[in-house]
Amino acid sequence: MTEDTYVGAIDQGTTGTRFMVFDHDGRVVANAYQKHEQIYPEPGWVEHDPEEIWENTQAVMLTALEEAGLDAEQLDAIGITNQRETTLIWDKESGRPVYNAIVWQDRRTTDRVETLQDEGKEEWVREKTGLEPDAYFSATKAEWLLDNADPIKLARMRPDDVRERAEEGELMFGTIDTWVTYKLTGAHVTDVTNASRTMLFNIHDMDWDDELLEEFDVPKAMLPEVRPSSDEDLYGTTDSDGFLEAEIPVAGALGDQQAALFGQTCFDAGDAKNTYGTGSFMLMNTGDEAVMSEHGLLTTVGFQRSGEPVQYALEGSIFITGAAIEWLEDVSLIDDAAETEELARSVDSTDGVYFVPAFTGLGAPHWDQRARGTILGMTRGTRREHVVRATLESIAFQTRDVAEAMEEDSGIDLSTLRVDGGAVKNNFLCQLQSNIVGTDIVRPMVDETTALGAAYAAGLAVGYWSNLDELRNNWQVDREFSPDDDAENVDGRYGRWKEAVDRSLDWARE
Ligand code: G3P
Repeated sequence: MTEDTYVGAIDQGTTGTRFMVFDHDGRVVANAYQKHEQIYPEPGWVEHDPEEIWENTQAVMLTALEEAGLDAEQLDAIGITNQRETTLIWDKESGRPVYNAIVWQDRRTTDRVETLQDEGKEEWVREKTGLEPDAYFSATKAEWLLDNADPIKLARMRPDDVRERAEEGELMFGTIDTWVTYKLTGAHVTDVTNASRTMLFNIHDMDWDDELLEEFDVPKAMLPEVRPSSDEDLYGTTDSDGFLEAEIPVAGALGDQQAALFGQTCFDAGDAKNTYGTGSFMLMNTGDEAVMSEHGLLTTVGFQRSGEPVQYALEGSIFITGAAIEWLEDVSLIDDAAETEELARSVDSTDGVYFVPAFTGLGAPHWDQRARGTILGMTRGTRREHVVRATLESIAFQTRDVAEAMEEDSGIDLSTLRVDGGAVKNNFLCQLQSNIVGTDIVRPMVDETTALGAAYAAGLAVGYWSNLDELRNNWQVDREFSPDDDAENVDGRYGRWKEAVDRSLDWARE
């Protein structure tokens, strides 16, 4: 490490792409962000254009470097973090996708998952993958793409030959980390954390699972090589003739929730964090033991460094939290997310209103693919302030749902919870979260810990940082929130919340 070198991180998320550059102290020295289009071809379907994502990735990298007056050569390494599970297939030769990426929120394969459940294969999948069978994961999305890419307008190949070409290895499967790494370096790789979200990967053997590949009819030849999240062998290097005009090692990748765990320096068993993005994802490091959940959580890979054992995590995946605030914007109840704090504070309570934002079904701990959003308890006196406050409360209540499951599964009392992501700028939400879970909430100085985690993984691999203690020393508290509401009041409201959730379940049944 010399004084003027840095590590970059690409954070390719559900709503947009960010590039951040960090110095040795973990401080942000460059940052650029660009949103991409959300494509909703049918109710319940969500797609992204992979070409747009790649164009935006290049644009934010160049913009961030230019605005900070940095040269690409000053990057010692690049790490990648990404929206997980989102699936695409592309042509090896042309590098062009056969169809849009199917986003993690997409529900088009709900029926397929139900078939699996009807056939009694749930426990079989759970044991191998640590996942609760759901359309959320990549397996049924890949199967759908292979079965349906031919007649789709966007397919850029001869009809009828998608599956055949996949078997020949002429088509490539990938999650978004794989796509971005491929575009940057030409390597076809993924990391252990992203692989663990595909529902095709055995988290005990740490390899693609032949039986699952057969079940979902996904040819092994199209799968990427699985590598550690922080890889001293490097995934590859950027091309000096490419858009960066420099050869930079791409040395690490983690799914965004695991990256946030790493960025929050939750390196030891029992350390936990909650990230508030489109959805919220609470992860607890469980060390080298894959703890199987009995309360509706997922068992997933936390991270792996070169030559070291895999670290596992328990995860509570909440599909819609920040996206519920976006929805308030979409339906013109607010102009801007920043307004929610003031609006929520302007009333003493929600006046009995409960909002369950189950727009794409419910994840942990309920796992109901057919749940749908509902607002209950409205009267003629209900104002938008009450609905806005109920939206923030829904974020906190959903977090309590998974926090309770996590305490039961791990036997560990969550006395403090590290938080990050866009919504934690909202002090009202942080205080509310502390009251509703009954735990201290700790917000770090760098709230973009997702990108920081990816930078740490890549930087460790190339020796920019030499050990985990250096990273621990970088972590600093911005503000701590402690419970200040009486438990009885909170528990009463939480009981009503659970009733509201019950009413949202199975709504979209056929
Ligand atoms: O599992 C989905 C998750 O990775 C999406 O994260 O931050 O893009 O909402 P985010």
